[in-house]
Amino acid sequence: MLGNFTYCNPTKLYFGKDALSGLKDELPKYGDNVLLVYGGGSIKKNGIYDKVVNILKECGKNIFEDGGVMPNPSSVKLNEGIERARAAKADLILAVGGGSVCDYAKAVSVSVNCDEDAWEKYFIKFDDVTCDVVPVGCVLTMVGTGSEMNGGSVITNHEQKLKIGHVFDENVFPKFSILNPEFTMTLPRYQMISGIYDIMSHILEQYFSGEDDNTSDYIMEGLLRSLIHSADIAVKNPNDYEARSNIMWTATWALNTLVDKGKSTDWMVHMLGQAVGAHTDATHGMTLAAVSMPYYRHILPYGEKKFARYALNVWNIDAHGKNNRQIAIEGLDAMERWMKSLGLITNLKDLGADESMIEGIVKSTLVMDGGYKVLDTDEIRSILKASL
Ligand code: NZQ
Ligand code: ZN
Repeated sequence: MLGNFTYCNPTKLYFGKDALSGLKDELPKYGDNVLLVYGGGSIKKNGIYDKVVNILKECGKNIFEDGGVMPNPSSVKLNEGIERARAAKADLILAVGGGSVCDYAKAVSVSVNCDEDAWEKYFIKFDDVTCDVVPVGCVLTMVGTGSEMNGGSVITNHEQKLKIGHVFDENVFPKFSILNPEFTMTLPRYQMISGIYDIMSHILEQYFSGEDDNTSDYIMEGLLRSLIHSADIAVKNPNDYEARSNIMWTATWALNTLVDKGKSTDWMVHMLGQAVGAHTDATHGMTLAAVSMPYYRHILPYGEKKFARYALNVWNIDAHGKNNRQIAIEGLDAMERWMKSLGLITNLKDLGADESMIEGIVKSTLVMDGGYKVLDTDEIRSILKASL
């Protein structure tokens, strides 16, 4: 296990078909004013909005609303949300939706009591939180980001063509999250598979770093096997509760700070995907799917042993008579076949990007270290071109 670390995850989870009843246990812990944050209206169509509002009323809360949070929430919307939370004197921000709604709620929560511009402070300067944080609770309706149990918050500034995530400390994690797999059943297929790939990418970007014999890697191999198995079932039958509930639980554990322990972690696929997102506003998981194979094929020679281990332990590649390089390549080929079988988008053109946008996307890409190869600008450009 690499380095020294502390581990603390303060989010309380309520999981299963009756999970929403947990909201009644949580609400009394907070003051009367609740800012109810949600997206573009899916929760009104599928009845989740009514269920949540009924519980809020039952618990005697004053309900203030902030709807219309868009996928990939913008810095402009964030400023609007901060004003609404201030006007409501919110004691609790209740996010009902997917990662976008939950991320947005966290960004509002750290900005309500702060005078500085939120985008500048947290997403450009990466400042720590120095003001009082309004507590956030989450009712999750879309699976993938892990935002329900982490401090991540990703905001897009369309004017600056930047999509940037700030990973906040434990005091910003949701205080509680309600995870009812049935709430995700109304997700369009495109969103479901995009979320599945987001989970896959989160795990891989923590897995593909380091060469030590790390417990976190064994946990991740288990999560990956479960994800692949359940995803195969869910694409055939999206109403399969067992598969959907496994995927939901895997998503949470993929990015709730457990499996990065003792790891340097990579995150370059997310940096490329976020840059694509800043220019196209495409669905998050699909941006990752589009850049992944060219990225992994590019770095394979630098992390050959780990890629071979991945091929053997996750994709069951037959190692007989083959060297590490061959095994590793077969593993990535198997992964690509699986991605296509799910129906994932594996090129940038289908996400609205073209050759003329490549230079801009290169400029918007933040470079991370921690993986097997720190990319230079030419490498980023050639990976993006190979993703077109
Ligand atoms: O807006 P509504 O109408 O609710 O529709 C949403 C949205 O259009 C819809 N949806 C959600 N639940 C539904 C549903 N439709 C029908 N039935 C339901 N039950 O799905 C669409 C996508 O929702 P969104 O919240 O945008 O998806 P996701 O959960 O993938 O979140 C994406 C955002 O999270 C960030 C991404 O960058 C992106 O901005 N991420 C956050 C992370 C974190 N906090 O740690 C890490 C991730 O890597 C990711 O970067
Ligand atoms: Zn992600």
